[in-house]
Amino acid sequence: MEKKKKKMKPETFDRQEKGIVWMMVDTAANMPVTIYSESLGVKAPEACYRSAVWAEDSTRLIGEEYLLNAKRSSLEIGMPMGVFHYTSSVGVKGALSNRQLKEENIADNSETIELPRYLPLKESLGAVIRSRRSIREMGKSPLTLRQLATLLYYGDGPSGKFDFNTFNNMPPTVSLGEEYTGVVRCSPSGGGLYPVTLFFVAFNVEGLKRGIYTYLPLTHSIRLVRALDEAELEAYNRISNFGINIDNDTLGIAIYYVYSLYDNSRKYGDMAMQFAYIETGEIAENVQLAAAALNLAATDIGGYEKGLTEEFLGIDGLTKHILHLTLIGTCK
Ligand SMILES: Cc1cc2nc3c(=O)[nH]c(=O)nc-3n(C[C@H](O)[C@H](O)[C@H](O)COP(=O)(O)O)c2cc1C
Repeated sequence: MEKKKKKMKPETFDRQEKGIVWMMVDTAANMPVTIYSESLGVKAPEACYRSAVWAEDSTRLIGEEYLLNAKRSSLEIGMPMGVFHYTSSVGVKGALSNRQLKEENIADNSETIELPRYLPLKESLGAVIRSRRSIREMGKSPLTLRQLATLLYYGDGPSGKFDFNTFNNMPPTVSLGEEYTGVVRCSPSGGGLYPVTLFFVAFNVEGLKRGIYTYLPLTHSIRLVRALDEAELEAYNRISNFGINIDNDTLGIAIYYVYSLYDNSRKYGDMAMQFAYIETGEIAENVQLAAAALNLAATDIGGYEKGLTEEFLGIDGLTKHILHLTLIGTCK
């Protein structure tokens, strides 16, 4: 006999059912091989893992599907074709230059603030790498604007020029000018496409109103997306519970690494997302090392509410996604 579905208020579910459902999922997830792992309504990572490993017609981990389908063989020539197109085409370089110009235009806007120059970091690289630790307990004093500028600069700031003309040997023209160069940054990026943008929430930075900002690397400036009042800070705190050892009242900034899917997938197709994660890691590590050199407290966070935070930051969650988060404050 088929059991009838029963309507239930969330409060009733919470009070009456959640505990036992939790126990059932936990039990099923921890059986060595379970026939239920395919059909569990709630899948703990353990259950996903086991169904991927054991079940015949398995519901694979999304990561496994991705890995099985990425970079299958060099005989799939779509990828080489896409890459070649980028080294050969003036049109593509035009598109990249336009992106650069767009950012410079945004930087001209009154909402942007030019950052001070970064601080030189003189400590030995080895000592900084070894001393870096995730520090979750932060002090109440604010970050200085110079410290903020230094973190953003070493993370994703401009550090040189790339000469597009190396391959093509094009003469200077009136239309395209003398140089065929693009700006390159402190962290590497596949094809120099830089699909990851730093958004940050400023909670406690000297001389900066509390709000959501983006970093504009080419002009080493920041743009205010939205100032935050008390009610919005409360809303942020409701969706941002980073754990008992992290007190949101002590945060200086929260840097969100935001990936714009189509900025690099036109060239790299399905590999683009992989590149974006790698690049996010490279930027985040540079930020962490800069923080360590500045004697600041920083910790990477995987435990954020992706969808709700994207909404909060004003990111569509379709073409743009949060990939990672670093919290930074002063030391206690
Ligand atoms: C991708 C990633 C996600 C992380 N997520 C969290 C997190 O949600 N909460 C937290 O307290 N620490 C988080 N961490 C910090 C790790 O716990 C920390 O790096 C690890 O314990 C090693 O310690 P160390 O960074 O001091 O060397 C994360 C680190 C990384 C790289």
